[in-house]
Amino acid sequence: MNSMLNKYTIANMFCERDEIAQLKDVIINKNNVLLTGEHGIGTTTLIQQAFHQLPEHSVGIYIDVFDITDDIDFIHAFYQALVHQLPLQNTEKELQHYFPCFTASFTRKNQSEHGVSEVTSSYSFDELLVSIFSGIDLFCQEYGYSHLILAFDDFQQIAEIKKSKIDAKIRAISQVNKQVCFIFASNKKYKLRAIMNSYGQPLYGMTTPITLKPINKTVLKSYCEKHFQLRFTHNSFLFLYKKLQGRTRPIIQTCTVLSFLGKVISNDEINVAIDHLMSQYAPIFKDKYTALPRQQKKAIKAIIFSQYLSPNTSVFARDILMTLRLTKASLVGALLALEKKDEIMQVDEGKYRINDVLYALWLNFSFIQ
Ligand SMILES: Nc1ncnc2c1ncn2[C@@H]1O[C@H](COP(=O)(O)OP(=O)(O)OP(=O)(O)O)[C@@H](O)[C@H]1O
Ligand SMILES: [Mg+2]
Repeated sequence: MNSMLNKYTIANMFCERDEIAQLKDVIINKNNVLLTGEHGIGTTTLIQQAFHQLPEHSVGIYIDVFDITDDIDFIHAFYQALVHQLPLQNTEKELQHYFPCFTASFTRKNQSEHGVSEVTSSYSFDELLVSIFSGIDLFCQEYGYSHLILAFDDFQQIAEIKKSKIDAKIRAISQVNKQVCFIFASNKKYKLRAIMNSYGQPLYGMTTPITLKPINKTVLKSYCEKHFQLRFTHNSFLFLYKKLQGRTRPIIQTCTVLSFLGKVISNDEINVAIDHLMSQYAPIFKDKYTALPRQQKKAIKAIIFSQYLSPNTSVFARDILMTLRLTKASLVGALLALEKKDEIMQVDEGKYRINDVLYALWLNFSFIQ
């Protein structure tokens, strides 16, 4: 999360959505949340906004675990988030007081910012985790905080780290630590399901699920018009909203492109703006597609072809299998591999969807047009 953003900027950049009241309500009541939604729908922004609306004596800590590869990476991400986001005096002595297992030393990044490096090698994962939570407990007591919310974003990453059963341990610790509650956020449904199922569902019973829906059309239209000084007709906004499946990120990105036009926006102009966005991402999309194994490339094509042929055409249609020189069994295997990476999602029998909307448009443009 960008610490440079102040409260005013964050409030001003937020389009109201129904789920904020629910999220705040659950966390203020010290219950844990499992926050999910489609890719780019606004999960991270919602957490950020909820944290800026917390009552007194409450503090939110945001921990992005998207790039952790082992349990010690997890601890590092956790510790660094606490160092940067706990409202501490931020002296080495104070950090030592709360987190004695970490030997913190400040490194100067630039004139105004410090980085904190830490040495932790002599402790095990379990010891470090317990020590972090003891530190949090002590901090709450000494600073008079009644409530501390830990948000782990891209939480599905911990599914990759089977050794330490991080979620089960967090569950155990959270049951004794009364000031703390959790937000587990993830837009990767397949991997998340793996966490839910693999360790006897340690998180399932302890969370209130909140699934983000697309922001209401009318609300998002007003927000985009105000924020980007744009004017849509009712139909042109609907066209944009449908084409991008109500996903907040690409809609906002398209509005950024359109904001330079300064007039009422037509469907044609929306198409041009989306094409422009797609062309910016084209090198990334091309790399992503090229890096796929051969059968998965074909599976992606099968999805695009089936959508093109008709809404009812199955990816396993005979013509598609023949054109792509695929057997049904190899297509099933390739689709499953793509699903496991959360690249695609099955929506019905024989029907699949590419999760990233812009990528889907680019694939369509590359293989159909
Ligand atoms: N409520 C909102 N108001 C205004 N802009 C928003 C809102 N939600 C999302 N956005 C815009 O969409 C972008 C993507 O949002 P965000 O990063 O929260 O999505 P996400 O669901 O966490 O995505 P990912 O799947 O990549 O994790 C933000 O950078 C912001 O520009
Ligand atoms: Mg996110």
